[in-house]
Amino acid sequence: MGWQVLLFISLLSLRVVHGQVSYSIPEEMAKGALVGNIAQDLGLSVERLKSGKARIYTGNTVEYIELKTERGVLLCKGRIDRESLCGQTMPCALHFQMILENPMEFYTVTVEITDINDNPPTFEKGEMKYEISELTPTGARFVLEKAIDDDVGINGLNSYALKPTDNFVLKTISRGDGTKHVEMVLQKPLDREKHEYISLILTALDGGEPQLSGTMQIIITVLDVNDNPPVCSNPEYKASVTENAPVGTLLTTVKATDIDKGNNGIITYMISKSGAAGLFKIDANTGVLTLTGNVDYEKRKLYELDVQVSDQGGLSDACKVIVDVTDTNDNPPSINIMSISNTVSENMKPGTVVTMLNIQDADSSDNGKVMCVLNKNIPFAIKSTTNNFFTVITDSELDREISSHYNITVTCSDEGVPSLSSSVTLTLQISDVNDNAPVFERSSYEANIVENNTPGLSIFTVRARDADWNQNARVSYILEDSSVNGVPVSSYVSVSADSGVIHAVRSFDYEQIKDFHFRVKAQDGGSPPLSSNVTVKILIQDQNDNPPQVLYPVQTGGSLVAEMVPRSADVSYLVTKVVAVDVDSGQNAWLSYKLQKATDRALFEVGLQNGEIRTIRQVTDKDAVKQRLTVIVEDNGQPSRSATVIVNVAVADSFPEVLSEFTDFTHDKEYNDNLTFYLVLALAVVSFLFITCLVVIISVKIYRWRQSRIMFHSNLPVIPYYPPRYSDTLGTGTLQHVYNYEVCRTTDSRKSDCKFGTAGSQNVLIMDPSATGTMQRIQSEKSILDEPDSPLEVSSLV
Ligand SMILES: *[C@@H]1O[C@H](CO)[C@@H](O)[C@H](O)[C@H]1NC(C)=O
Ligand SMILES: *[C@@H]1O[C@H](CO)[C@@H](O)[C@H](O)[C@H]1NC(C)=O
Repeated sequence: MGWQVLLFISLLSLRVVHGQVSYSIPEEMAKGALVGNIAQDLGLSVERLKSGKARIYTGNTVEYIELKTERGVLLCKGRIDRESLCGQTMPCALHFQMILENPMEFYTVTVEITDINDNPPTFEKGEMKYEISELTPTGARFVLEKAIDDDVGINGLNSYALKPTDNFVLKTISRGDGTKHVEMVLQKPLDREKHEYISLILTALDGGEPQLSGTMQIIITVLDVNDNPPVCSNPEYKASVTENAPVGTLLTTVKATDIDKGNNGIITYMISKSGAAGLFKIDANTGVLTLTGNVDYEKRKLYELDVQVSDQGGLSDACKVIVDVTDTNDNPPSINIMSISNTVSENMKPGTVVTMLNIQDADSSDNGKVMCVLNKNIPFAIKSTTNNFFTVITDSELDREISSHYNITVTCSDEGVPSLSSSVTLTLQISDVNDNAPVFERSSYEANIVENNTPGLSIFTVRARDADWNQNARVSYILEDSSVNGVPVSSYVSVSADSGVIHAVRSFDYEQIKDFHFRVKAQDGGSPPLSSNVTVKILIQDQNDNPPQVLYPVQTGGSLVAEMVPRSADVSYLVTKVVAVDVDSGQNAWLSYKLQKATDRALFEVGLQNGEIRTIRQVTDKDAVKQRLTVIVEDNGQPSRSATVIVNVAVADSFPEVLSEFTDFTHDKEYNDNLTFYLVLALAVVSFLFITCLVVIISVKIYRWRQSRIMFHSNLPVIPYYPPRYSDTLGTGTLQHVYNYEVCRTTDSRKSDCKFGTAGSQNVLIMDPSATGTMQRIQSEKSILDEPDSPLEVSSLV
């Protein structure tokens, strides 16, 4: 400012030519505002001013004041800004002169411009930015920009205010040179995590009335320091995983936060301690916990993992993850055989324990509850005794003969879903007990043997089977003692103990015994042995070993028997009947009669079947008295056997006639000479032989009787007698087989037990030439046989 400001007021010089006048006006008066009535103050009249052409002289500075001559007043020519006029200089005055002419006079006018509070304090910048670390200690000072207030004095800058005052307080410091400056002091530590940005308003105030102010914004960015560790969201995480879950299964996510910023807030996750190496993995960045191995509930049910969470600044926290392993049914029951009998006897009582089992299932709860069953259709049962212990027992009677061993399959399953099971097969042998008797293949046996067999011939074989085993099934055959016709059966047959082959001990004679039976016992080798027996019937078959025997006419050595035929006999007159029997049977005893030789073939014929001799023509006087017929009797066997009989027939009307004829030809000279000689000789020889034999036989008999009463005790003569039973009523004349003959047997008691059918008696003429023609009339055969010591018996004995 180029203004020379002089400030003085001299009221004394006011009336002098070089008078002086001062005014004081506030700045910023409106244009035309009255500064002062200069004319009056200087004691000048308006006319003087007019005449004097009063004017203002300011040199070459700006005129702020103008003179209104006609009114004699000074007015503001324009707005006056003290600040621009004087700045901070005080006092601030305008100095100028008022010049008058005619006479020239000049007056010094001083107009003091007083300050009004028209300027607020201002800051150069609207805002200021600071970056302050949150770790900055309290007491740290930050210099703030000063505010400027163009006003002076009381209107000048007076004070500052800072808001809010949470962290900072304002401190004004007066320097030695009188200047003031302002700073803010950290009073309370900063925390970026609470307030990353702090906005403060610094207000500068002046002392004017009204008070004016200016503000500045202070923006503080709190710089982060790694002052916060990461923090787990939960101190403990719980996760559960089923065992055998696949690798990669997500278990849980560990979450931690770090309120720090940037690297200080980046968290990494790590499993620090687990005791389960390789089973779990945590993603370092995300905290996702996954399974990397196989967890087995049966090995471990719970894992505790310590997860360390760290930020980049090296701070860390630890959280715990508890992983519960849940059970799945992954273990089948295991069957342990504690005790087993490999063999049990078949006579074990039901309920006998054969095996003890222990079942284990590593799974828990239902997955570990086990039930066991056996396969079907075996006589065993399984019973649970105490927990996990089972016994296999026999359920019913065992029979080795039905099954010699059993495969017992024990199947155990747990109650898991799905259920797991395992099984074991035990083989149990059933040992034999001799509980089966041998059984013959047939309930009875019948065998045929042809008579006249060679002794020792094997007839046939009996066989018995025994269902038992080994020694208990080894069958031996034993002939049971019995007697056949009073003779021990062992003299008829023998049985081979090992093979059951039945041998004939002797040669059989059908004519003596047609059949017999006995018992064979089969006995096994058990202890005690079991046995059974069977009836064996042996049928002896007939052979044609006996020729027919002629019973009638009786062929006696010496006597001559003749049939009488009266000359008056008609055609077909029954002369006689040849009666023959055959002790064989069947075809072997089927006899046929034929005429072999005859004196006159034209006179007689023989019935083929019945042996009847009949005339075939009328007898004439020319026919010889003496007729001789030779009849041959043949049986039907293969080969056939035969016997011949000579039948003498006398054709005569009277007995003397016959006698003379027969005597004649019995006393035939040449025939008789020879005969007499031979008869005498024969008689002597026979008598001798008879006596000798009698002695021998008696001695033998006595000897044998002494030896054994059993052996051949009842082997007494068997005398077959065959009554000449034929029937005329049967047209064929064939001998009926049934009535062919009946066996007549005499027993020890010598009593006859013969039975005879009634046979028609025949008129016979027996002539014994040596007994002087005595004739005997036989009423019936029975009369002969009733005689105990009949000649027939005697001859049989011999
Ligand atoms: C028992 O098992 C064996 C061998 O597996 C077999 O040979 C036999 O026939 C089975 N027995 C029964 C009675 O099933
Ligand atoms: C023969 O067997 C029968 C049953 O078949 C029996 O009654 C009888 O006693 C047995 N005889 C002998 C001698 O063992």
